Amino acid sequence: MRDVDDSPRYSFVKGNICDPGTLEEAMAGHDAVVHFAAESHVDRSIVGSDDFVNTNCFGTNVVMDTARRLEIGRVVHIGTDEVYGSVETGSSKETDPLEPRSPYSASKAGSDHLVRAYHHTYGLPAITTNCSNNYGPYQFPEKLIPLVILNALAGKPLPVYGDGSNVRDWLYVDDHCSAIRLALKKGRPGETYNIGGNNERANIDVVRSICRILDELRPAANKKPYESLITFVADRPGHDLRYAIDATKSTTELGWKPEETFESGIRKTVRWYLDNPGWVQGVVSGEYRKWMEKNYSERQ
Ligand code: TYD
Repeated sequence: MRDVDDSPRYSFVKGNICDPGTLEEAMAGHDAVVHFAAESHVDRSIVGSDDFVNTNCFGTNVVMDTARRLEIGRVVHIGTDEVYGSVETGSSKETDPLEPRSPYSASKAGSDHLVRAYHHTYGLPAITTNCSNNYGPYQFPEKLIPLVILNALAGKPLPVYGDGSNVRDWLYVDDHCSAIRLALKKGRPGETYNIGGNNERANIDVVRSICRILDELRPAANKKPYESLITFVADRPGHDLRYAIDATKSTTELGWKPEETFESGIRKTVRWYLDNPGWVQGVVSGEYRKWMEKNYSERQ
């Protein structure tokens, strides 16, 4: 990440979490590990689940086993609210059963179970956090928010699955990071903490908000409102209707409080993508473009 390139506290190792040798080298001498590495895109897991099981389940096992062997003093495992499954009413608590329903969430539930097993069996001081949908700078443009911003700027259709009524809770990335820092510092080993932005929105409303901000900040050359690009497409198979989590434990036990509302966070995000076309160009190339063209043209 360019923002931290020059920091003496930062180093980058390119490797695969399924490889114990690489992990051992990277983790040796450190007192804490925050495990973010995962295959994270639901649509990709529907097209092919092997990588998800390998990275999220087997890879997490290697991370935990390496941490155990190196006697790392603290481990935080980054999980998702999708492991609780679709919730029609109310919101998921840490004590709720895991009911994953996509290959992605099933593989993440597997990783959560492994982390708890390492704590229970070997006493590994590991904590799991389950967060809602992240958004903000540097998000890979396969996810809804960056995809909509970039498609709109390119004058392309804005694909909304089904009727757009599916609900997600949106968490600004900096708020997520502040919660993880607190979990690392104050979380109790073996415990799980939900992290949610308290910003539930139907997908169609998210897309419309982005369109309105773009109309204001970067009006289309043809003067048409960006909403005219909204295109309802075939629904995602098994599309979970709603995710919502109760983050009370994180607020009371860790003292966490999100800073951004959805309105402030989405505006910052749109601005960031407008200001960083170079980053976007760099990531939207080659294999990714081919994958998007194949899978998205098939869905429409
Ligand atoms: P996504 O960003 O893929 O996150 P997740 O599936 O982990 O929640 O999708 C967020 C929501 O937006 C989800 O309900 C699926 C929907 N969606 C669309 O309607 N169109 C799209 O092109 C994408 C990528 C997602």
